[in-house]
Amino acid sequence: MEKIPLCLIGCGGMGHRHILAYKELEDSGIGNIELVAICDLNPDNADLGKREVERLFGRTPLVFTDLDGVVTHPDIAAVDVVTDPSVHHQVAVPVMEAGKHVLCEKPLGITIRACQAMIGAAEKSGVVLATAENLRRDPPNRLARGIIDQGLLGDPYLMIHNSMGGSDRIYITPWRHMKDKGALGLDMAVHYTDIVQYYMGEYDEFYGMGKIVEPVRFRQDRAENKLESYTERFKTFPESIEPTGEDAVFGMYKMKSGAMVQFSFARAGRGGGNWDRSVHGRLGTLFAPGDRNGKEVVLKLEGKKLTGEEILSLLPDFQMSEITARVFGENMVTYDPAEFPPDAKHMAIEMHDFGEAVLKGTKPEVDGYLGMTAVAAIYGVYESGLAGRPVSMDEMLSGQVRAYQEEIDAALGLD
Ligand SMILES: NC(=O)c1ccc[n+]([C@@H]2O[C@H](COP(=O)([O-])OP(=O)(O)OC[C@H]3O[C@@H](n4cnc5c(N)ncnc54)[C@H](O)[C@@H]3O)[C@@H](O)[C@H]2O)c1
Repeated sequence: MEKIPLCLIGCGGMGHRHILAYKELEDSGIGNIELVAICDLNPDNADLGKREVERLFGRTPLVFTDLDGVVTHPDIAAVDVVTDPSVHHQVAVPVMEAGKHVLCEKPLGITIRACQAMIGAAEKSGVVLATAENLRRDPPNRLARGIIDQGLLGDPYLMIHNSMGGSDRIYITPWRHMKDKGALGLDMAVHYTDIVQYYMGEYDEFYGMGKIVEPVRFRQDRAENKLESYTERFKTFPESIEPTGEDAVFGMYKMKSGAMVQFSFARAGRGGGNWDRSVHGRLGTLFAPGDRNGKEVVLKLEGKKLTGEEILSLLPDFQMSEITARVFGENMVTYDPAEFPPDAKHMAIEMHDFGEAVLKGTKPEVDGYLGMTAVAAIYGVYESGLAGRPVSMDEMLSGQVRAYQEEIDAALGLD
């Protein structure tokens, strides 16, 4: 197999961005995946996906409107799951049982049990399960990790991740406000709990609480990202909804290294927002610029402020992967995000990594386990809020603590 024949499952908003990313991967010159099929239960979305593949690749993909056809098709070796989170496991498990490899959008599963069902199916069938996490592929995040790995900060003792600000509007889709579907506190903040583990290593303990800050959400007229397809979709949404899932996560994390992490996330509140990501060690502090904006990482050492080439000169062994260099340019640590679609390049990197894992039998960078621990870092905070005490990763993964998740598991037959 030179290129892995793959089916994209879920052709909604993010599914379309994945199609752009497969094109970016193909154009990199080292593409290892061929998008041969698409699947969506909604025939209109399947048709939109088909037309997008035709426009970008000049070929017509196989089109499925149910999962059975994908599972039994002999020419599909892998699937990319881009459905809403509550059905990730329902799609991925039968696909893996049929011996096909899976790349799955974050959050890996809607609960820890859903994640474990997926990891179990991958192990049993001996296929690759990877979690699509594109923020960590951002060159500034790679550089930040390089700084930490090189020991320029000394042992990090604290990370601060603070991403606040939002509105009382329905954020992209109504399901992003519902507990049993994958509300914002999970669906969005899981990006940041992955960044925490990428920078700081393994989680040990969680403390804090989740919150529904906005009790009612209203339909918005225009998409924040100005994509016409999103705006058209808004017209089909109810005028208002009452969220059942958290739009805010406030946590303290103890990491296995002994470092602490202060974590705050809210896509709510009308007073504007603020954003910080910093890592503090005895020797220095790094300030990360945010994700997918191409801005500079700033490193402060003994009162000196370093950026760009000054930082690179302290990292003789630092290198971007071949695919990163191809899509972003050699050793590029800043870029202009206006030059290309916001995240096609980031996703092309994660897709290439998945393809290499399938073709060479290596481990993908974000496997099922890391997808699950990023989910555990969100639910660990919610479970801690309910239990009124810190909760450990062991308690989360063993299922000893799962009061918050119980009703979701019960509704999905995962109990
Ligand atoms: N990495 C990122 O930056 C990023 C950004 C946005 C969304 N996402 C993730 O992408 C996923 C999808 O989000 P979205 O915004 O595209 O949602 P969406 O609601 O726009 O699209 C989901 C699509 O999946 C289809 N679908 C649902 N169940 C299905 C099934 N069983 N089989 C086939 N198709 C099915 C729906 O019909 C719909 O077309 C989520 O996991 C979300 O967290 C990631």
